[in-house]
Amino acid sequence: MLNKLFKRSPVSSPSRETPQVTSFEKSNALLMKALEIIPIASQTFSKSHLQYPKDHAPLFIDRGQGARVWDIDGNSYIDMVNGLMSITLGYNDPDVNSAVMKQLSRGITFSHASELEYELAQMLVDIIPCAEMVRYGKTGTDATSGCVRLSRAYTGRDKILACGYHGWQDWYIGTTARRLGVPKAVQALTDTVPYNDLDALSDLLKTEQYAAFILEPMNIAFPKPGYLEAVREITRQTGTVLVFDEIVTGFHFSLGGAQELFGVTPDLAAFGKGMGNGLPISAVVGSRDIMKKMDDIFFSGTFGGETLSLAGSIAVIQKMKREPVIQHLQQAGDRLDQAVSHILKETQLDHLISFKGHPCWKIMSVENAGNISAQVIKTFIQKNMIARGVIILSTHNMSYAFGTAEHNSVIKAYQETFSELSRHLTQGTLMDNLGCPVIEPIFKVR
Ligand SMILES: Cc1ncc(COP(=O)(O)O)c(C=O)c1O
Repeated sequence: MLNKLFKRSPVSSPSRETPQVTSFEKSNALLMKALEIIPIASQTFSKSHLQYPKDHAPLFIDRGQGARVWDIDGNSYIDMVNGLMSITLGYNDPDVNSAVMKQLSRGITFSHASELEYELAQMLVDIIPCAEMVRYGKTGTDATSGCVRLSRAYTGRDKILACGYHGWQDWYIGTTARRLGVPKAVQALTDTVPYNDLDALSDLLKTEQYAAFILEPMNIAFPKPGYLEAVREITRQTGTVLVFDEIVTGFHFSLGGAQELFGVTPDLAAFGKGMGNGLPISAVVGSRDIMKKMDDIFFSGTFGGETLSLAGSIAVIQKMKREPVIQHLQQAGDRLDQAVSHILKETQLDHLISFKGHPCWKIMSVENAGNISAQVIKTFIQKNMIARGVIILSTHNMSYAFGTAEHNSVIKAYQETFSELSRHLTQGTLMDNLGCPVIEPIFKVR
């Protein structure tokens, strides 16, 4: 089965050349110019120079094809970041392109709704267990914030309980270390609770009336047996709206999201990222009872029904239904994970480094090695993988275009990187060979 999938599915990467990395001259020069007029020289923290090894990484991408991208210096890479998990099928997917091109010739944004809104809504209602009604946004933050406002309107309560990452809006970011600019009064309205900790959740829900409990149904850890079911039960008992943030899990874990995979249906859910294969579209979906409150709140924007993204998203879902996309994300991720675990054992790094989570979104977990911090080790890995033509933050974000050639190149890069890491750790020479400042995370939520 695996071989069959590998043979037929990753079709959109015609270029099978070995990744090539020579210089970052143009990237570094453009960074200097861009920093003069664009704060952080990027629109997204995780895509910015702050998250990559200084002078040792591409900073501006020119084009993408399948599982690969080319930077402005002409270097080519296998991209394990995949637009922060928005690329599920692969770059430049022909089916999505043709749907977008067809719509482009008819118009992008009108003064009224289009039929595409209904067509996509019907597809989402058909595939997502909790979806009885649907509204669209452009970003994941639009969708999670829509769920939050809707929950407040529905329950008449102000406080929110959150678990995981949910975007840049005040109601959530006020709970993190990046809360500068969020009023204290707003910060006080959101509490957080650790994942898989049912006692902490019950205690909070018993002592405080929350409008919603919003959580990523899974990120780094699988739900403990019975956890999501108990969450469902206790939120129902306390009149708290249960919101699944499926921005990452949606269109990855299962076509109907983590709620389908784990068999637990929330009241509302937020989808985004993978539903448009890179096009800016998100959705608030949920029970008719709560979604009807959309009539009374304000969730509305000029580009809410922009048609290229709607047409693209319809093409994504059609392809996911027609071809074994979801199966491939899981199986290719599993195969990669097994190979990487083997290399970690061989290089005797398995006590320090492991990959956790769902196969389509494995997250690297690193321990401190004596006085060498985990961040130093992560920086070394990232720098060395990039030098070998693999762009990585610290996750394996799988796409349908990731085939055997990509698998082999990534494995080779890991073999070399982990052998060097192991040698430097044994010899005590890692700091001398880091060659760039240590990368600090923006903040840690997972
Ligand atoms: C789980 C989760 N929720 C919400 C968001 C916010 O989505 P966006 O960046 O599209 O606003 C993200 C983004 O990474 C996410 O991972």
